[in-house]
Amino acid sequence: MADKSTSTKAPAHVAIIMDGNGRWAKERGLPRLAGHRAGTKNLRRVIRAAAKAGIQNLTFYAFSTENWKRPEDEVRGLMALLAEFIETEIQELHKEGARLLHIGHLDGLGPTLKRKVEDAIELTKNNTRINIILAFNYGGRDEIICAIKKLIEEGANADEIDVERVSAAMFTAGIPDPDIVIRTSGEQRTSNFLVWQSVYSEWFFPQVYWPDFSEEHLLQILEDFGKRDRRFGGLSKK
Ligand code: IPE
Ligand code: IPE
Ligand code: MG
Repeated sequence: MADKSTSTKAPAHVAIIMDGNGRWAKERGLPRLAGHRAGTKNLRRVIRAAAKAGIQNLTFYAFSTENWKRPEDEVRGLMALLAEFIETEIQELHKEGARLLHIGHLDGLGPTLKRKVEDAIELTKNNTRINIILAFNYGGRDEIICAIKKLIEEGANADEIDVERVSAAMFTAGIPDPDIVIRTSGEQRTSNFLVWQSVYSEWFFPQVYWPDFSEEHLLQILEDFGKRDRRFGGLSKK
C-alpha cells in the first residue's frame, strides 16, 4: 500500500454493499460461485485503493442475515471463500497495518471458520492504518434487536437511552457512522445494511457489478462526495 494521498479530505468511513456477483457471472455464462470468487478477489484491490486514499474505516457487506435463504451450495461456497480470503490475505494485510473487525454473528458459521475469523481479528488487533470491517452474517435489524437486549441486560433506565447509548450498544461501537455507503450493481436499497448508522450517509449507486468495481470508481465517488452538501438537518455552510 502506498502512502495516503488525500488524508486531509478522506472520509472517515466508507461502507460497501458488494452486489452483482451473480449477474457478473451470468453475463459470462459462468456459475454464480465464479462471480463470488471474482468478487472476493476484488477485495484486495479495493482495500489497497481505500488505504491509499486515507480512508480509516472500510466496511464490506459480504453476507446478510437474509442470505441464508440462498441454495445450500451457494451458502457453502460463500463460507469457503471467506475462509480462503483469510488464509491468503491476512498475513499481507497484517504487514500493511490493516486491522480486521467483524460485525454480525460468527456463531452459525461453523466452528472452524469462526475460529479462523477470530484468529485473524486477534492477529491484527493492534494495527492502526485502516480498519477492515467485515459484515458477515450481519443484519441491521438484528443488530438493533441485539442492542436493545444488551441495554436491558445492562439495566439501563429509559431516561438514560439516547443516541450515544444506543450507538455504543451496536456491533459498530467506537466506529464512526459511514460518511459514504456504496452499493454496486445498480440496485438502490439498503437490504438491511447499517440501518441505524447510515441515516446521514451519502449514498452512491455505481452502475457496475462488484467484481468490476475498481480504484477509478472509488476515486470518482470520493470526488463526487467532496461536492455534496451535507447539512445534517441544519443549513448549508457553503
Ligand atoms: C453479492 O452478489 C454477494 C452476496 C450477496 C453474497 P449477489 O450474489 O447478490 O449477486 P446478484 O445480485 O445476484 O447479481
Ligand atoms: C445484499 O445483497 C447483501 C450483500 C451484498 C451481502 P442481496 O443481493 O442479498 O440483496 P437483495 O436480495 O437484492 O435485496
Ligand atoms: Mg444481489
